[in-house]
Amino acid sequence: MAASRVSQARLKRLFSDRNLRTARLVSGMVLMTFVTMHLLNHALLLISLPAAETMRPWFLMIWRNPLGTVALYGSVATHFALALLSLYRKRGLVMPMREIFQIVLGFAIPLLIAEHVIGTRVFHALTGVEDSYRYVLRTLWVASPVGGVRQSVATVVIWVHGCLGLYFWLRFRHWYPQVAPWLLIVAVLVPVLALLGFVEGGRTVASIGATPPPIDAPVIAHDRQIKEMLIRSVYLGFGGLLAGVFALRALRAYRERRNLIEVRYSDGHVVRVAKGYSVLEASRIGGIPHYAVCGGKGRCSTCRIKVSEGLDALPSPNSLERTTLKRLGADPDVRLACQLRPTGNVSVTPLLVPDRDRLLLPGQPVIPGREREVAVLFCDIRNFTGLADHRLPFDIVFLLNRYFAMVGKAVEQAGGRMDKFIGDGAMALFGVDTTNFEACRQALVAASAIIRDLDQLNEELAGEINAPLRVAVGIHAGPAIVGAMGYRDVMSVTAVGDTVNVASRLELAAKEFNATVVVSETVVQLSGFDLSGFDIRDIDIRGRAQPLNVRVVPQGAALPIAAQKKAADAA
Ligand code: FES
Repeated sequence: MAASRVSQARLKRLFSDRNLRTARLVSGMVLMTFVTMHLLNHALLLISLPAAETMRPWFLMIWRNPLGTVALYGSVATHFALALLSLYRKRGLVMPMREIFQIVLGFAIPLLIAEHVIGTRVFHALTGVEDSYRYVLRTLWVASPVGGVRQSVATVVIWVHGCLGLYFWLRFRHWYPQVAPWLLIVAVLVPVLALLGFVEGGRTVASIGATPPPIDAPVIAHDRQIKEMLIRSVYLGFGGLLAGVFALRALRAYRERRNLIEVRYSDGHVVRVAKGYSVLEASRIGGIPHYAVCGGKGRCSTCRIKVSEGLDALPSPNSLERTTLKRLGADPDVRLACQLRPTGNVSVTPLLVPDRDRLLLPGQPVIPGREREVAVLFCDIRNFTGLADHRLPFDIVFLLNRYFAMVGKAVEQAGGRMDKFIGDGAMALFGVDTTNFEACRQALVAASAIIRDLDQLNEELAGEINAPLRVAVGIHAGPAIVGAMGYRDVMSVTAVGDTVNVASRLELAAKEFNATVVVSETVVQLSGFDLSGFDIRDIDIRGRAQPLNVRVVPQGAALPIAAQKKAADAA
């Protein structure tokens, strides 16, 4: 009895969500590597048929040796089995379109490629037929154009399915925005070149000799029957497995009908689902808007809910949920709706519900918050109130717009992005799409440009204002939460967090010190620029245990950044 409990626990651990996800990822990566190499080999047909034939043995050497064979077909079996398992485990089939699309593409693949795989690899193993490019192209291009079209569709379906899988996996990595354009180029080029290669190869093979050898010359009629029988078996087996999964789902649903629980929402909605459904699935079944940016994979935490009733009877969080909640520093009554499968009635409140309040415009993309290292620059006009006194509103707007244009240009030319203008102040972000090193350099380059351009602006406005404009700039760098925030069309990518607060505080410090710029030593060190000529001070920042080391650039002094940058760029 005890032994069986131990082996059950082991099995449970072995088939934990985390392990299954890893298995899906690894098998998917193996398959994607195979497909990429296969398509690149096809692309060589654009050069010539012999070029593709020359590369083919190398490709086969990797994938037709015993190790490669096990890796490839093991991955096919694992990926397919996991897809069936996931289809079985999904309680409701109400899900976002992108998930449905991915699932449909995935299940279409075996149907599309069965004939090709049996006609090449399997038949090579059974009969020794040499499935060279010449042989396959004759089959798909000359003898059976329908097969050629199906194979082209299969190429696109497999590639899109693989790329979507990669996208879902990588999209929340902080470096993803930087590599995304390159990945997109690869994602478009590989299949396009492969399909063009297929067309070119097909035309070449069709033009070789007026009387090409019969299509299945090496294959006797008996073999052809075997081929057809194998293809039929694959279709039947595939259909049987799918039907089996749906039959098991129906059986489970029938059994569970006697075992319903209620998920009660704080807005009064009640959804009755069987035990075993996750709260997220209950929300989808009940049509209740529920944020789930990672698609229910337990990674983003956006589906989190507060449990107000039934907390004690809930199953404890699995390791994935525990990790995410711990990162969040969540209270004990907060759970992830996608991971929590209540065994009794519960009352819950989704903590993030964008759609209900129409925070997003239709079609507006969701940009989830992510922690990033950024540099933040605040710039404010000093003594603006005095400047605005006794001026016409038109004049003030004109003045402010000239100043904002000057700051915006300096920031954008340095590589940063304007975050917002508030009153006479401006906030800029650096590092949303680049490294910390670059972010700090860009922020200092922007500050130096602001100081330089302010002199020019003052010259231009000399006849308009009584005293020259003066600014106070604060710069700090560190982690911040970056994401799309706002309401409907007033929504933009911005940053929040301690780093932003400190940068704002440094801008105030610049005013207190009667300085132009106060920049944290962190930024100076990270940027690699030499600001040793300026005073270094320790200042207290509210909420920080330690004083902050800052460099103070006094009024009238220029930031010696441009020359240093020029020298570094030239080196
Ligand atoms: S949907 Fe992302 S953690 Fe639940």
